[in-house]
Amino acid sequence: MSTFFYPRRDDLDMTGKARILNVYDEGALEHTPLIGGHGQGFIIDVDGKRILFDTGLRGRYLLHNMKVLGIDPDSIDMVVLSHGHRDHSGGLVSLLEERRDTLVVYAHPDVREKKGKGIIIPWKRIGFPRLGEELSAKLDLRPVADWTRISDSVQLTGEIKERRDPEALGKRLLRWNGSSWEMDRMRDEISLVLETAKGPVLVTGCGHPGLTNILRHVVSHYGKDVHAVLGGAHMEKFKKPAVEAVVDIIIEEFETPQLYLNHCTGPNGIMRLREQLGLDGVKDCYVGTELSFQI
Ligand SMILES: [Fe+2]
Ligand SMILES: [Fe+2]
Repeated sequence: MSTFFYPRRDDLDMTGKARILNVYDEGALEHTPLIGGHGQGFIIDVDGKRILFDTGLRGRYLLHNMKVLGIDPDSIDMVVLSHGHRDHSGGLVSLLEERRDTLVVYAHPDVREKKGKGIIIPWKRIGFPRLGEELSAKLDLRPVADWTRISDSVQLTGEIKERRDPEALGKRLLRWNGSSWEMDRMRDEISLVLETAKGPVLVTGCGHPGLTNILRHVVSHYGKDVHAVLGGAHMEKFKKPAVEAVVDIIIEEFETPQLYLNHCTGPNGIMRLREQLGLDGVKDCYVGTELSFQI
């Protein structure tokens, strides 16, 4: 299939601009050949570089959507993995298979730790995929423990250590600590910040550390309000009071950034947020959604 909606990067005049294009989410734009599936993935074009933030769960969906959107796997300069969960890292296998060259991947040092879903012991493994020898040789994994600049206009947050507000973890997330399974606090989750003319634009994976904790981490680093947030906030199971508490903090402490929340924010989470913030308070963000920013 040839380019369907978007010109390739070489055809775009990106001077002074950045673009974020959704390539993987549970939902896809209507009346398009794009596929929705469990997971997250954004292409970020900025500073003459192309970044893929998360790879979604299934490589074939990722590659399909990229093909429809005119994204050549070999045009990706670097991948950022928000955390080890497979709905964010699973597509890496097909991406590595498809590429000719080595792939630079930024992630938390613990991104490959064993993760599971279950009670006491996992019934399902949900961590970083197995790559095998051949694909591992194509992987250039670069650890991100703390704030790390990966481009003139892009930084990665590193670990979100201070979690003053409730996290968004779910009871059944487990990690292997080397000798036993324990509840996973998702220390390995990092976010990406695009530095735009209107302020930092935050891109999250699952938002397990808690959206407001991540926002505070970013605001205290930059000393200014966040302009927009794109990505997951893991609020599907949040009851109404928990969502209201998040909204109160967002309004009072963070001047209500534009919210393009998707993926694990979930239909329930988004509905409850919209009850508080209005229909436009959380904008749609499906596969095919494209935003551009001045940098
Ligand atoms: Fe997720
Ligand atoms: Fe996750």
